[in-house]
Amino acid sequence: MKKNIQIAIDGPAGAGKSTIAKIAAEALGYTYIDTGAMYRALTLKALKENINLEDAESVTNLLGMTDITLKPSENGQLVFLDGQDVSQEIRSNEVTSNVSKVAAHAAMREIMVQRQQEMAKLGGVVMDGRDIGTAVLTEAELKLYMSATVEERARRRFEDNKQRGIVSTIEQLQEEIALRDKLDSEREASPLVQAQDAIFLDTTELSIQQAADAILKLVSERRA
Ligand code: DC
Repeated sequence: MKKNIQIAIDGPAGAGKSTIAKIAAEALGYTYIDTGAMYRALTLKALKENINLEDAESVTNLLGMTDITLKPSENGQLVFLDGQDVSQEIRSNEVTSNVSKVAAHAAMREIMVQRQQEMAKLGGVVMDGRDIGTAVLTEAELKLYMSATVEERARRRFEDNKQRGIVSTIEQLQEEIALRDKLDSEREASPLVQAQDAIFLDTTELSIQQAADAILKLVSERRA
C-alpha cells in the first residue's frame, strides 16, 4: 500500500473544494494547501501598495518581494503575508473581486507554481486551486475536478460569508461567481479546465460529508 499520495483538486469558485479538501486532508493526515489563498494574499498586497493589477511586470516583481506562508491551525489554514496574519483580510469583497486580474499573469504564475511544487514535496498533500492537475501537480495520483451549479455555489458562498460576518446578497454573489468563472476559464495563462485524467465530481446534490467520503473512497483505491 502506498503511504503518501498527491491529490489535486480543481474547479470553479464555490464548488466546495476547500471545505471538502480540508476534511479529506484531515482524515488522511495529509497537508492541505489552498493555492487560491496565495493569489488572494498577493492581490491584497498589490491593492495596499496601489500596484496596477493589469500590469504583468509590476505584479510579477511584487511577488518576487513577497513572502506568503500557509500554516495549518485548529481553525483551518492560516495565511501569512510578509509575516502578518491576513487569513480574514484575503476573503474581503475587494480582494475577491480583483483576484482574477492578478491571477491572469503568466510570469507571476510560474513563480507561484514553483512555490506550490516545493510545498508539495513535504509528503501527502491535498492541494486545491484552478491549475493543480494541469500545471502544479501534473503527476498527482488522484486528480479531481469539482463543480456545482452557479445557483448552488452562490448559495454556499452566501452562507459562508454570513458566518464570516461579510454582508452580501445571493444575486450579487451569483453575478460575481459567473464573472470569475469566465475570467478564470478564458484567460490565456493556465485557464481553468478539467485535466484529461481528472475525475469529475458534481457536488450540487452532495453534502460536504458525502463529497469527502467520495474522495476518501477514491484515495483508498489509488493507495491500494
Ligand atoms: O479558490 P479561490 O476563490 O480562493 O481563488 C481565488 C482566485 O485565485 C480565483 O478566482 C482564481 C485564482 N486561482 C488561480 O488562478 N489558480 C489557482 N491555483 C488558485 C486560484
